[in-house]
Amino acid sequence: MENIKWIHPKTKIGPPAEGDSYIRRKYINDEFWREIYKGNHILFTAPRRVGKTSIMKDLALNCLPDYICCYENIESDRNQKQFFKHLFNILLKQLNTYRKTKNKVRKWIKSRGIGEISIEGNIKFIKKELDYKDELLSLIEELNKMDHKVVLFLDEFPEVISSIKKNEGKEQAIDMLHTLRAIRQNKNFSRFILVLAGSIGLEQVVETLDRPKLINELHRIRISPLRKNEAIQLIKQLTDGASMQIGKEQINYILKKIDNLIPYFIQLIIEESDAILYKQNITKLKKEDIDRAFNNIVKHDENLQDWESRLKPPYLNKNAYGFCKEVLTICAFENKISLQQIYNLANKWKQKDEYMKRVKMLERDGYIVEENRFYLFVSPILQVWWKRQHPEFEFEK
Ligand SMILES: Nc1ncnc2c1ncn2[C@@H]1O[C@H](COP(=O)(O)OP(=O)(O)OP(=O)(O)O)[C@@H](O)[C@H]1O
Ligand SMILES: [Mg+2]
Repeated sequence: MENIKWIHPKTKIGPPAEGDSYIRRKYINDEFWREIYKGNHILFTAPRRVGKTSIMKDLALNCLPDYICCYENIESDRNQKQFFKHLFNILLKQLNTYRKTKNKVRKWIKSRGIGEISIEGNIKFIKKELDYKDELLSLIEELNKMDHKVVLFLDEFPEVISSIKKNEGKEQAIDMLHTLRAIRQNKNFSRFILVLAGSIGLEQVVETLDRPKLINELHRIRISPLRKNEAIQLIKQLTDGASMQIGKEQINYILKKIDNLIPYFIQLIIEESDAILYKQNITKLKKEDIDRAFNNIVKHDENLQDWESRLKPPYLNKNAYGFCKEVLTICAFENKISLQQIYNLANKWKQKDEYMKRVKMLERDGYIVEENRFYLFVSPILQVWWKRQHPEFEFEK
């Protein structure tokens, strides 16, 4: 065993997965393009860390002919102006890059009197400030003269609405959603398609504006955890050519342990297992190593911390957080929580009017699932981790 050159698996933790570390699910890509052909705008919904960003990037990278695709994380847009400016600039840049569209877009810029084109083909704006919303709408209309449709993948979109609400007020956030809905519904704008996602749920954010109808017609594509055969394929893909050897029995053991087959958890356990074997310079993975890997993941939990922070202010107010925390803590320690218990907690935390909204959010976030009027944790990793975060339950009993 000495002197072997250790080859690590191709795990990717944190950034979106790609290449060998990414497993593509063709049926998701197919559904996506089917809906785009129908003219729908898309909202990707999935619990935290299920792979929305990875899927969006993969789709944008493998764009179909006749479409121009662009992925953009818009998290940093803090107000309406920044948001529309960002969209305008992305669209302009894309159209100015493609051979088939660049002449037309340059003509449009001249006709608007907003800029000049340098010899190298760069756009130089004449005016210092533009009405970006107005220019964006005009540019989208101009797409009718071009042969391509544009698909913009906007990641962290709900975060932007949240920011606009916080910085400019509820009405501005509503106004922005109105404008986008007008774009989606107006036939003149049909060559411009939006694909939205985010690590906090759009429904949850829009609820705070009391205008759920503004996102009603978005076509939802729900991304589920991996099926068993997909999870096996991902493990094989990640460990192909690696020093770590995982037998069939061990693969099944991993899947049983993780249970909720989110690709992220698979990446975590494979990386941790590899670290354990590497230290011992042993290539064959055993069940005890998998148990240790699982324990290490919930112990060194910097990868999971983000989960709970999304339940705290500013995302939820103090009482809502208190309610969610207690629901999850009881559920984690007692392996389930009844609807009656949840209702009692709603009273305690002044959540009587909205407690089911909170419960639905916990379901959407991938914490719990309902079975016969009881709620259970979906993922053993999250359940054990939550118990470690909140041992108070045992002391206060
Ligand atoms: N299709 C996939 N194949 C392999 N690994 C994946 C896949 N999708 C996601 N992952 C793993 O999950 C991690 C999170 O993926 P990603 O950022 O795409 O999820 P997300 O749903 O956008 O997360 P968030 O809710 O935080 O925005 C990646 O770093 C990678 O480890
Ligand atoms: Mg993401």
